[in-house]
Amino acid sequence: MTEFTLPKNSKVTKGKVYETHTDTKNIRTFHVYRYDPSEDSNPRVDTYEISLDQCGPMVLDALIKIKADYDASLAFRRSCREGICGSCSHNINGVNTLACTQPIKDIKGDISIYPLPHMNVVKDLVVDLTDFYKGYASVEPWLKTNSEAPEGTERLQTKEDQEKIDKPSACILCACCSTACPSYWWNGDKYLGPAALLASYRWLQDSRDEAKEERLKELNDSSKLYKCHTIMNCSLACPKDLNPGQAIAEIKKMIATQDLND
Ligand code: SF4
Ligand code: SF4
Ligand code: FES
Repeated sequence: MTEFTLPKNSKVTKGKVYETHTDTKNIRTFHVYRYDPSEDSNPRVDTYEISLDQCGPMVLDALIKIKADYDASLAFRRSCREGICGSCSHNINGVNTLACTQPIKDIKGDISIYPLPHMNVVKDLVVDLTDFYKGYASVEPWLKTNSEAPEGTERLQTKEDQEKIDKPSACILCACCSTACPSYWWNGDKYLGPAALLASYRWLQDSRDEAKEERLKELNDSSKLYKCHTIMNCSLACPKDLNPGQAIAEIKKMIATQDLND
Protein backbone atom coordinates (compact mmCIF):
# COMPACT_ATOMS: atom_id res chain seq x y z
CA MET A 1 0.00 0.00 0.00
CA THR A 2 1.29 3.47 -0.83
CA GLU A 3 2.14 5.59 2.20
CA PHE A 4 1.66 9.32 1.80
CA THR A 5 3.09 10.40 5.16
CA LEU A 6 6.45 9.63 6.69
CA PRO A 7 6.48 7.07 9.51
CA LYS A 8 6.44 8.77 12.93
CA ASN A 9 9.92 7.59 13.86
CA SER A 10 11.47 9.22 10.76
CA LYS A 11 10.51 12.76 11.75
CA VAL A 12 13.49 14.87 12.73
CA THR A 13 12.87 16.63 16.05
CA LYS A 14 14.49 19.64 17.70
CA GLY A 15 17.35 18.50 19.92
CA LYS A 16 19.52 19.94 22.65
CA VAL A 17 21.06 23.41 22.53
CA TYR A 18 24.65 23.78 23.73
CA GLU A 19 25.55 27.41 24.38
CA THR A 20 29.08 28.71 24.42
CA HIS A 21 30.15 30.29 27.68
CA THR A 22 32.83 32.64 26.40
CA ASP A 23 32.38 36.39 26.10
CA THR A 24 33.70 36.59 22.52
CA LYS A 25 31.47 37.93 19.75
CA ASN A 26 33.05 35.60 17.20
CA ILE A 27 30.44 32.86 17.57
CA ARG A 28 28.87 30.62 14.91
CA THR A 29 25.93 28.29 15.35
CA PHE A 30 26.05 24.71 14.05
CA HIS A 31 22.98 22.48 13.68
CA VAL A 32 24.02 18.83 13.58
CA TYR A 33 21.88 15.79 12.74
CA ARG A 34 21.89 13.19 15.50
CA TYR A 35 20.52 9.67 15.38
CA ASP A 36 21.32 6.65 17.47
CA PRO A 37 19.51 3.49 16.31
CA SER A 38 20.21 1.82 19.66
CA GLU A 39 17.94 4.40 21.34
CA ASP A 40 14.20 4.20 20.79
CA SER A 41 13.90 7.82 19.70
CA ASN A 42 13.56 9.91 16.55
CA PRO A 43 16.47 11.60 14.88
CA ARG A 44 17.04 15.12 16.20
CA VAL A 45 19.07 18.18 15.32
CA ASP A 46 21.29 19.47 18.12
CA THR A 47 22.52 23.05 18.14
CA TYR A 48 26.03 24.06 19.18
CA GLU A 49 27.35 27.58 19.59
CA ILE A 50 31.08 27.64 18.92
CA SER A 51 33.58 30.40 19.49
CA LEU A 52 35.65 30.60 16.32
CA ASP A 53 38.48 32.10 18.39
CA GLN A 54 38.90 28.61 19.87
CA CYS A 55 38.26 26.52 16.75
CA GLY A 56 40.14 25.76 13.54
CA PRO A 57 38.96 27.27 10.23
CA MET A 58 37.18 24.31 8.61
CA VAL A 59 33.79 22.69 9.22
CA LEU A 60 35.64 19.51 10.24
CA ASP A 61 37.40 21.52 12.98
CA ALA A 62 33.96 22.45 14.34
CA LEU A 63 32.86 18.79 14.38
CA ILE A 64 36.08 17.82 16.18
CA LYS A 65 35.49 20.63 18.71
CA ILE A 66 31.90 19.52 19.29
CA LYS A 67 33.08 15.98 19.98
CA ALA A 68 35.96 17.11 22.22
CA ASP A 69 34.21 19.85 24.23
CA TYR A 70 30.42 19.40 24.01
CA ASP A 71 29.32 15.81 23.31
CA ALA A 72 31.77 12.91 22.94
CA SER A 73 29.00 10.66 21.61
CA LEU A 74 28.83 12.49 18.23
CA ALA A 75 29.80 10.05 15.44
CA PHE A 76 31.34 11.17 12.14
CA ARG A 77 34.03 9.89 9.79
CA ARG A 78 37.31 11.64 9.12
CA SER A 79 40.93 10.73 8.72
CA CYS A 80 43.37 12.83 6.69
CA ARG A 81 41.85 16.33 7.15
CA GLU A 82 43.52 17.18 3.82
CA GLY A 83 40.87 16.30 1.21
CA ILE A 84 42.66 13.04 0.38
CA CYS A 85 40.94 10.17 2.18
CA GLY A 86 37.32 10.96 1.24
CA SER A 87 36.00 10.07 4.71
CA CYS A 88 34.54 13.38 5.90
CA SER A 89 31.88 13.91 3.21
CA HIS A 90 28.67 15.37 4.62
CA ASN A 91 25.74 17.43 3.46
CA ILE A 92 26.68 20.92 4.64
CA ASN A 93 23.99 23.58 4.22
CA GLY A 94 22.39 21.47 1.50
CA VAL A 95 25.61 20.72 -0.44
CA ASN A 96 27.52 17.44 -0.42
CA THR A 97 31.13 18.24 0.27
CA LEU A 98 34.19 17.46 2.40
CA ALA A 99 34.05 18.97 5.87
CA CYS A 100 37.85 19.23 6.01
CA THR A 101 38.16 21.47 2.94
CA GLN A 102 35.05 23.59 3.57
CA PRO A 103 36.04 26.85 5.29
CA ILE A 104 33.54 28.01 7.92
CA LYS A 105 34.00 31.62 6.84
CA ASP A 106 32.72 30.85 3.32
CA ILE A 107 29.29 29.89 4.68
CA LYS A 108 26.87 32.66 5.63
CA GLY A 109 24.64 32.32 8.69
CA ASP A 110 24.06 29.15 10.68
CA ILE A 111 25.69 25.94 9.45
CA SER A 112 23.66 22.72 9.14
CA ILE A 113 25.53 19.42 8.96
CA TYR A 114 23.61 16.34 7.85
CA PRO A 115 24.65 12.86 6.66
CA LEU A 116 25.02 12.27 2.91
CA PRO A 117 21.48 12.23 1.49
CA HIS A 118 19.33 9.17 0.80
CA MET A 119 21.66 6.78 2.63
CA ASN A 120 20.88 4.59 5.60
CA VAL A 121 22.32 6.16 8.72
CA VAL A 122 24.49 3.97 10.94
CA LYS A 123 24.79 6.66 13.64
CA ASP A 124 24.62 10.48 13.56
CA LEU A 125 26.63 11.55 10.48
CA VAL A 126 27.93 8.09 9.56
CA VAL A 127 26.11 6.46 6.63
CA ASP A 128 26.14 2.88 5.39
CA LEU A 129 28.38 2.76 2.30
CA THR A 130 28.12 -1.01 1.73
CA ASP A 131 26.30 -0.74 -1.63
CA PHE A 132 28.54 2.14 -2.70
CA TYR A 133 31.67 0.02 -2.19
CA LYS A 134 30.00 -3.03 -3.76
CA GLY A 135 29.34 -0.98 -6.90
CA TYR A 136 32.97 0.16 -6.95
CA ALA A 137 34.30 -3.40 -6.50
CA SER A 138 31.98 -4.66 -9.25
CA VAL A 139 33.77 -2.64 -11.95
CA GLU A 140 36.99 -4.51 -11.06
CA PRO A 141 39.09 -1.39 -10.62
CA TRP A 142 42.47 -2.86 -11.33
CA LEU A 143 44.73 -3.45 -14.35
CA LYS A 144 43.69 -6.52 -16.37
CA THR A 145 46.05 -7.98 -18.94
CA ASN A 146 46.35 -11.14 -21.06
CA SER A 147 49.72 -10.48 -22.65
CA GLU A 148 53.07 -11.47 -21.15
CA ALA A 149 54.56 -8.83 -18.87
CA PRO A 150 57.55 -7.12 -20.54
CA GLU A 151 60.87 -8.37 -19.27
CA GLY A 152 62.89 -6.16 -16.95
CA THR A 153 60.49 -3.22 -17.07
CA GLU A 154 57.02 -2.14 -16.05
CA ARG A 155 54.17 -1.80 -18.53
CA LEU A 156 54.97 1.73 -19.69
CA GLN A 157 52.71 4.48 -21.02
CA THR A 158 53.33 7.59 -23.06
CA LYS A 159 52.91 10.92 -21.29
CA GLU A 160 49.76 11.56 -23.39
CA ASP A 161 48.23 8.22 -22.35
CA GLN A 162 49.05 8.88 -18.69
CA GLU A 163 47.34 12.26 -18.90
CA LYS A 164 44.11 10.56 -20.00
CA ILE A 165 43.86 8.75 -16.66
CA ASP A 166 45.31 11.53 -14.54
CA LYS A 167 42.01 13.20 -13.60
CA PRO A 168 39.79 10.12 -13.15
CA SER A 169 42.53 8.56 -10.98
CA ALA A 170 42.15 11.50 -8.57
CA CYS A 171 38.78 10.24 -7.30
CA ILE A 172 38.89 9.80 -3.51
CA LEU A 173 35.63 7.77 -3.28
CA CYS A 174 33.98 10.33 -1.03
CA ALA A 175 30.51 9.47 -2.46
CA CYS A 176 29.50 13.14 -2.75
CA CYS A 177 28.60 12.55 -6.41
CA SER A 178 26.62 9.32 -6.09
CA THR A 179 24.61 10.62 -3.14
CA ALA A 180 23.77 13.78 -5.13
CA CYS A 181 22.42 11.71 -8.04
CA PRO A 182 18.62 11.26 -8.14
CA SER A 183 18.97 8.05 -10.18
CA TYR A 184 21.30 6.62 -7.54
CA TRP A 185 18.90 7.64 -4.74
CA TRP A 186 16.12 5.51 -6.20
CA ASN A 187 18.14 2.69 -7.78
CA GLY A 188 21.30 2.48 -5.66
CA ASP A 189 21.05 -1.32 -5.51
CA LYS A 190 21.12 -1.69 -9.36
CA TYR A 191 22.55 1.51 -10.83
CA LEU A 192 26.32 1.73 -10.36
CA GLY A 193 26.27 5.48 -9.86
CA PRO A 194 28.76 8.14 -10.95
CA ALA A 195 31.67 7.22 -8.64
CA ALA A 196 31.83 3.55 -9.71
CA LEU A 197 31.31 4.48 -13.37
CA LEU A 198 34.10 7.05 -13.20
CA ALA A 199 36.35 4.32 -11.77
CA SER A 200 35.39 2.04 -14.65
CA TYR A 201 36.09 4.84 -17.14
CA ARG A 202 39.54 5.28 -15.59
CA TRP A 203 40.41 1.67 -16.53
CA LEU A 204 38.68 1.87 -19.92
CA GLN A 205 40.96 4.80 -20.71
CA ASP A 206 44.13 3.08 -19.52
CA SER A 207 46.34 2.25 -22.51
CA ARG A 208 47.82 -0.74 -20.61
CA ASP A 209 44.49 -2.41 -19.80
CA GLU A 210 43.50 -5.29 -22.10
CA ALA A 211 39.94 -5.87 -20.92
CA LYS A 212 38.15 -2.98 -22.59
CA GLU A 213 35.61 -5.13 -24.45
CA GLU A 214 34.88 -7.29 -21.39
CA ARG A 215 34.41 -4.16 -19.26
CA LEU A 216 32.05 -2.53 -21.77
CA LYS A 217 29.98 -5.72 -22.14
CA GLU A 218 29.55 -5.81 -18.38
CA LEU A 219 28.43 -2.16 -18.29
CA ASN A 220 26.04 -2.45 -21.25
CA ASP A 221 23.03 -2.94 -19.01
CA SER A 222 19.82 -0.96 -18.64
CA SER A 223 20.30 -0.54 -14.87
CA LYS A 224 24.04 -0.48 -14.26
CA LEU A 225 24.75 2.31 -16.78
CA TYR A 226 21.63 3.58 -18.51
CA LYS A 227 19.87 4.72 -15.34
CA CYS A 228 22.06 7.80 -15.79
CA HIS A 229 19.88 10.49 -17.33
CA THR A 230 22.66 13.07 -17.68
CA ILE A 231 21.27 15.37 -14.97
CA MET A 232 24.92 16.21 -14.08
CA ASN A 233 24.33 16.81 -10.33
CA CYS A 234 27.27 14.45 -9.84
CA SER A 235 29.82 16.68 -11.54
CA LEU A 236 28.54 19.76 -9.69
CA ALA A 237 28.91 17.91 -6.37
CA CYS A 238 32.47 16.64 -6.81
CA PRO A 239 34.81 18.40 -4.34
CA LYS A 240 37.83 17.28 -6.39
CA ASP A 241 36.55 19.01 -9.53
CA LEU A 242 36.17 15.76 -11.46
CA ASN A 243 33.53 15.16 -14.10
CA PRO A 244 31.86 11.75 -13.59
CA GLY A 245 28.84 12.83 -15.68
CA GLN A 246 31.06 13.35 -18.70
CA ALA A 247 32.86 10.05 -18.07
CA ILE A 248 29.47 8.27 -18.13
CA ALA A 249 28.60 9.96 -21.44
CA GLU A 250 31.99 8.79 -22.81
CA ILE A 251 31.31 5.20 -21.73
CA LYS A 252 27.93 5.29 -23.51
CA LYS A 253 29.71 6.59 -26.63
CA MET A 254 32.32 3.78 -26.41
CA ILE A 255 29.53 1.20 -26.24
CA ALA A 256 27.68 2.79 -29.16
CA THR A 257 30.76 2.65 -31.37
CA GLN A 258 31.93 -0.89 -30.46
CA ASP A 259 30.59 -4.15 -31.79
CA LEU A 260 29.87 -6.00 -28.56
CA ASN A 261 27.82 -8.80 -30.04
CA ASP A 262 30.44 -11.58 -30.28
S1 SF4 B 1 24.70 12.64 -14.84
FE1 SF4 B 1 24.02 10.57 -14.39
S2 SF4 B 1 25.26 9.99 -12.66
FE2 SF4 B 1 25.39 12.21 -12.79
S3 SF4 B 1 23.76 12.95 -11.44
FE3 SF4 B 1 22.93 12.76 -13.47
S4 SF4 B 1 21.98 10.76 -13.55
FE4 SF4 B 1 23.37 10.79 -11.81
S1 SF4 C 1 34.05 11.54 -8.47
FE1 SF4 C 1 34.39 13.22 -7.02
S2 SF4 C 1 32.52 13.25 -5.77
FE2 SF4 C 1 32.58 11.29 -6.79
S3 SF4 C 1 33.52 9.90 -5.33
FE3 SF4 C 1 35.13 10.68 -6.71
S4 SF4 C 1 35.97 12.45 -5.66
FE4 SF4 C 1 34.03 12.00 -4.67
S1 FES D 1 39.24 13.95 6.41
FE1 FES D 1 40.05 13.03 4.61
S2 FES D 1 38.99 13.99 3.00
FE2 FES D 1 38.31 15.05 4.77
